[in-house]
Amino acid sequence: MTDLDESPEHAHRLPEDVDVSRPNPARVYDYWLGGSANFAVDRELGDHIAEAEPRIAGMARENRSLLRRVVTHCCRQGVDQFLDLGSGVPTIGNVHEIAHRHEPGARVVYVDNEPVAVSHSEFLLEGVGNAAILRGDLTEPDEVLNSPVTRGMLDLDRPVAVLLLCVLQYFPDTERLRETLAKYRAALVPGSYIAISHVTADDEAVNMSGAAERIQRSRASHQAHPRSREQLLSLFEGTELVEPGISYAQHWHNEEATHPAEPSGIYAGLARVVG
Ligand SMILES: C[S@@+](CC[C@H](N)C(=O)[O-])C[C@H]1O[C@@H](n2cnc3c(N)ncnc32)[C@H](O)[C@@H]1O
Repeated sequence: MTDLDESPEHAHRLPEDVDVSRPNPARVYDYWLGGSANFAVDRELGDHIAEAEPRIAGMARENRSLLRRVVTHCCRQGVDQFLDLGSGVPTIGNVHEIAHRHEPGARVVYVDNEPVAVSHSEFLLEGVGNAAILRGDLTEPDEVLNSPVTRGMLDLDRPVAVLLLCVLQYFPDTERLRETLAKYRAALVPGSYIAISHVTADDEAVNMSGAAERIQRSRASHQAHPRSREQLLSLFEGTELVEPGISYAQHWHNEEATHPAEPSGIYAGLARVVG
């Protein structure tokens, strides 16, 4: 595996405004997934966190499996439009690839504000007609929803599945976060969906608190705020959770999951927007 800072092949894709002096969650996550879009600072923090919770890379992979099941489920409900907020560095099984297996005409907008994630997404999406990447801040819903990229790709008069997978933990509980989520909700017609997966420290067998502390003590661009099941539930306000409600990510609509549930540090839920 080659890494971004050692690989000339990636040089043309290295955005000018990338901050390589501080670890960034998009790139640390890419490192755990075995990708090459990361720098030494990201790998150091990734390893440091893995010392606190060695299953962290496995949980990142579980989250990607969850993404596949969520997109598949939404497609089976007839949804063919996706807004992936905090989409990350593209990896195996991106939203448009999964959706197109079910519905070749499905349309996807990816949104991320990390320059490496955006430039890799631009590269991947070259020549893909019905998926686009918007470099944007998901906490600015008006800008995201009204951007020409979003408006050109998605018809907001029809159902859309909004994905917020492993991203809301970077935002503490504030009025602004609630308003942000309310704006996305208000922009969606009934029959739309909102999916959230989220880091939690509820399961004491998993050291997510230790992992979050290591991020807090680092120079990372984002802090991590694990949420309890109750706190996560409150982020779904105004929507109807589909069965089984909030579960550990690897158990959400997963026929292959082991029972009883293995310890996990990621919750997941999918909710329907109702009238
Ligand atoms: C842990 S990754 C998750 C990627 C993907 N959603 C997944 O589940 O595989 C979190 C992503 O959120 C992005 N992110 C963090 N804050 C953001 C913001 N304010 N606006 C847009 N993207 C953001 C990061 O750059 C990163 O790519």
